[in-house]
Amino acid sequence: MNTKQDIATLNMDIEKIRADFPILSHSVHNKPLVYFDNAATTQKPQVVIDALVDYYTNLNSNVHRGVHYLSQQATNAFEGVRDKIQQFVNARYRHEIIFTRGCTESINLVAGSWGRANIGKGDEIVISALEHHSNIVPWQMLCEEKGAKLKICPILEDGSLDMTAFSDLLTTATKLVAITHISNTLGTINPVKEITRMAHDKGIVVLIDGAQALSHLKVDVQDIGCDFYTFSAHKVYGPMGIGGLYGREDVLNAMPPYQGGGEMIKNVTFEKTTYNELPFKFEAGTPNVGDAIGFGVALDYISNIGLDRIAVREHELLQYATMRFKSDPLIRIIGNAPEKASLISFMIDSIHPYDAGTIIDQFGIAVRTGTHCTQPLMDFLGLPGTIRASFAFYNTEEEIDRLMDAIVKVEELFL
Ligand code: ALA
Repeated sequence: MNTKQDIATLNMDIEKIRADFPILSHSVHNKPLVYFDNAATTQKPQVVIDALVDYYTNLNSNVHRGVHYLSQQATNAFEGVRDKIQQFVNARYRHEIIFTRGCTESINLVAGSWGRANIGKGDEIVISALEHHSNIVPWQMLCEEKGAKLKICPILEDGSLDMTAFSDLLTTATKLVAITHISNTLGTINPVKEITRMAHDKGIVVLIDGAQALSHLKVDVQDIGCDFYTFSAHKVYGPMGIGGLYGREDVLNAMPPYQGGGEMIKNVTFEKTTYNELPFKFEAGTPNVGDAIGFGVALDYISNIGLDRIAVREHELLQYATMRFKSDPLIRIIGNAPEKASLISFMIDSIHPYDAGTIIDQFGIAVRTGTHCTQPLMDFLGLPGTIRASFAFYNTEEEIDRLMDAIVKVEELFL
């Protein structure tokens, strides 16, 4: 593979792109930072950082509440982001996009509202062995409250979902399937369209956790056909503390509110309150306007680069890193699904991931070590944790070479 030529074919000036992200020029332990923890959170381009400062400098005002100029400007900017997200995930209506703090809150919203109203004793919820804690615990809490059962779809040896087992798990008792689009630990890309079709054939509601997906591939919620889709801005080059829930109009309309407060009401008396229409019914309290605006700028930023080009470039990085890792017999890659996003979980012989991560950090390289908020998956795999390198389009082959040098050092020290 001639990477430089491939980048040129993609018309991507990586150095120029890297210059958009101020943190990438920092040094850590006197070495240039290599940031391979993009699955935990992505770095922010200067335009996103500037948008936050600009909002608080020039626009700060509460939204939907004032006739005054600033309030109207802030409201327009905030609601404009809802339009952007609608287009980005191809939702049918703008009011199908609910602002939340991110995926975790979105899943809790669905569990607390749809779940409480629709799950009863003996019902079953199907998740998978790949799930992040945030797509396990809310359902466990709901099942405990309602006397329902949580069923786990196993994975195959390569880290893909066992689709035969999945099919068998869908019974007349199943009311909800909640499955991640991309595994944050193994990188597996799940066949979410097929999963949704299989569940819908049996009248089962489907939630897809899109935490890892929005930054890597084109998400089209109408094409997937799911009832709910969740996302977090900070995984898509935007700020922390903002994200959202897509819900199909008819499903959202039938749900009771999640939290009570301002904004979600139509009329309040001490005797009775009526609720606002979508999307505001689910947005109690003053929203995170500044970060939402930053999210919109982040979506514009990656749209300008192009999701297709990002996907191709990240696939190149994945292939290069896989090739380099496979050339070292002491490295074991965990998760080899045929459809995989640009991250690699791995073990270096019998070295504990924390020990390896501590040495790798001394080289100025940020990888994540541990269970990656997927403890049940680690138990399933019989591992104490893994080392995880997760790549974004701003990473380079040279950085992967530096990781390999650090790994050799780890091997020299511990083996
Ligand atoms: N879920 C995030 C990760 O995978 C935090 O690192």
